[in-house]
Amino acid sequence: MSQQIVNVGIVGAGLMGREMATAIQRWPALIDHPVRPQVTAVCDINPRALDWFDQLGTVTTKVTDYTELLNDDGVDVVYIAVRHDLHETMYIEAINAGKDLFAEKPFGIDLAAAEQIVAAIDAHPGVFVRCSSEMPFFPGAQQALALIGSGALGQVIEVHSSFLHASDLDRNKPINWKRQTEFCGKAGVMNDLGLHALHVPLRLGWAPSTVFATLQDLVQTRPGADGEPVICDTFDNATLTTAVDTLGPRFPLTVETKRIAPGEMNTWELEAIGFDGGVRFSTKYPNTVAAYSSADVPGLGTRQVWQNWDAGSESIWPTVTGAIFETGFSDAILQMWAAFFAERAGALGNRFGCATPAEALHTHRIIRAALDSHSTGRAEPVR
Ligand SMILES: NC(=O)c1ccc[n+]([C@@H]2O[C@H](COP(=O)([O-])OP(=O)(O)OC[C@H]3O[C@@H](n4cnc5c(N)ncnc54)[C@H](O)[C@@H]3O)[C@@H](O)[C@H]2O)c1
Repeated sequence: MSQQIVNVGIVGAGLMGREMATAIQRWPALIDHPVRPQVTAVCDINPRALDWFDQLGTVTTKVTDYTELLNDDGVDVVYIAVRHDLHETMYIEAINAGKDLFAEKPFGIDLAAAEQIVAAIDAHPGVFVRCSSEMPFFPGAQQALALIGSGALGQVIEVHSSFLHASDLDRNKPINWKRQTEFCGKAGVMNDLGLHALHVPLRLGWAPSTVFATLQDLVQTRPGADGEPVICDTFDNATLTTAVDTLGPRFPLTVETKRIAPGEMNTWELEAIGFDGGVRFSTKYPNTVAAYSSADVPGLGTRQVWQNWDAGSESIWPTVTGAIFETGFSDAILQMWAAFFAERAGALGNRFGCATPAEALHTHRIIRAALDSHSTGRAEPVR
């Protein structure tokens, strides 16, 4: 099958810039994908960060000024992975330059920034923009979604959606930009993990109307480069109790985003419980999906039964990897890119697509309600 070659430029050669470049290097793992992306350009203000990209063998442009990359006619799609305070300017400039954009969350440092980015998209309807949120691409998450989508839950009773880290449990972990409001945003951990936890609920149409937030700033200082304490002023943990009444009788959706959740390294989990059925999936047990239903148990009659099955490695785009093998984080990243390029090429079909600008903006509205709730001590509306 002939594949359309698409040249990708990466701005921000840090943790995620390299992760995404690695996923694109694994493209032959995908079967019959209509597009063949290749990373041809990379930008970082730190020239040393660019060297890693030499080993890809496809990079012909390495720059320290992102506007050079945006003005490069040879670049079709840009992936921008930088500090949150830089999103608004860089995303808008990329869109104005006519580049298709794979953005990083939180899609602007706050609601006002996200609104400006969406206004730029609206002014350039030909530009294709999506936002990174890879965890729903785990096969187990997709299977949980399929079960929910089948209607098997009946009337929804409650939903829990979480993204939990323990990465900040060590109080002596050095400060970085993600722990400073100036660079990360006032929303703190909600900017880091909020879209991860809200992507699936919003995709299912579970839009909260009100939010009651418990926000915790658990660690107030962290060591700076010289070992001296530096102000660490972001919220570490956020527990949101929201009310959803968009699709029928009201139910609670609890959204947890935490950097200090002891025992959790990088756990994304979803639990949805209804009258007739329920489902649980956690990346802590990436090969296991659990589902609840009423079932006949021999000799006992009808019982409420939870059962587990192995998720395997089936995902939204077929791969050369055998379906019985297990999947992981980098597989989810590859699947997310497969969805991005397939949707851009009009070939996604009814497969799960990447987070949209509207979903990223909606997440900011929920986060703003959470910040309002923190100030007032009451549940606040999502506006
Ligand atoms: N999807 C995910 O799972 C996930 C995980 C981690 C981070 N992120 C997001 O990715 C983005 C980047 O996070 P990261 O962890 O890769 O950060 P990082 O600090 O590891 O990397 C950011 C890079 O941007 C570079 N940079 C700074 N200013 C620049 C400029 N003006 N021009 C070009 N490069 C510049 C820095 O030198 C650094 O190399 C953030 O939005 C973050 O929220 C997403």
